[in-house]
Amino acid sequence: METIIVKDNIEGGKKAFELIKSGMAEGAKVLGLATGSTPVPMYKAMVESDLDFSDMVALNLDEYFGLAADNPQSYHYFMEEQLFSHKPFKETYIPNGLGEEKSECARYDQVIVDHPIDIQILGIGTNAHIGFNEPGTSFDTTTRKVALTESTIESNKRNFDTVEEVPRYAYSMGIQSILSAKKIILMAFGEEKAEAIKKTLEGPVTEEVPASVLQQHGNVILIVDEAAAKLI
Ligand code: GLP
Repeated sequence: METIIVKDNIEGGKKAFELIKSGMAEGAKVLGLATGSTPVPMYKAMVESDLDFSDMVALNLDEYFGLAADNPQSYHYFMEEQLFSHKPFKETYIPNGLGEEKSECARYDQVIVDHPIDIQILGIGTNAHIGFNEPGTSFDTTTRKVALTESTIESNKRNFDTVEEVPRYAYSMGIQSILSAKKIILMAFGEEKAEAIKKTLEGPVTEEVPASVLQQHGNVILIVDEAAAKLI
C-alpha cells in the first residue's frame, strides 16, 4: 500500500483532490464517495477547483437507515451540502434510507454493477470499519442493512443532538463492492485513527479489522497525517 504522510487534513484533502484530478485526466468516470469529517477538506478542494464534474458519476458508500434524503443528519444531505449543490455531477447515487431492505439492497448492487467504480474514497472508523462494514463483516459482502456497533454510535453521536437520535442501522456497500474499485484512496487524520491504521497496514488480514482487507487490493493509496501515522 502506498502511504503518503501529510501535515494535516487540509494538505491530505488537497493531495486526494490531486489524485482525483489526475485520475479524471486518465479517464476515470465513476467516483465512489464517503461521508464523515475525513473527506471534508477534499470536498472543499473539489468545490474550489475549476474542475468540471458534469460528466462524472458519483456513488456513495452508505446511508443511515430510516433517514429521508432531506433530513439534515442524512448522508444525502451531507453530500448535497459538501459537494453536489456546488459541483453538479451527471448522476449521483446514495442508498435510500427509507427504501425497503430487499429491493433497496438489490437496486444499489445493480447501480454498482452498472457503474464500476474507478476511484473509491474511504475514511476509516476507530474500529477500522470502512463504509459501515463493522468488525466481523464477511469480506464477501455486497450492499445490505447493517447494525452499527456501540463504538460507531458513540463516535457518530457528535453529529446528532443526543446519542438516542443516532440511527442504529444503515445501508452500506459491502466489502466486496469496495474492493471492486480500480483504485482506492483511504484517508485518516488524527491520533484516534492511529491504532486502526497500524492494524490496517501491519496486522493480519482479518474480518475483525475490516480495513485490513485493503492489503489484498493492488491499488490502494493511504493518505495519513502525522498523528494517524504515529504507530506505523
Ligand atoms: C462513518 C462513515 C464512514 C467514515 C467513518 C469515520 O461511520 N460511515 O464512512 O469513514 O464514519 O468518520 P470520520 O471521518 O468523521 O472520522
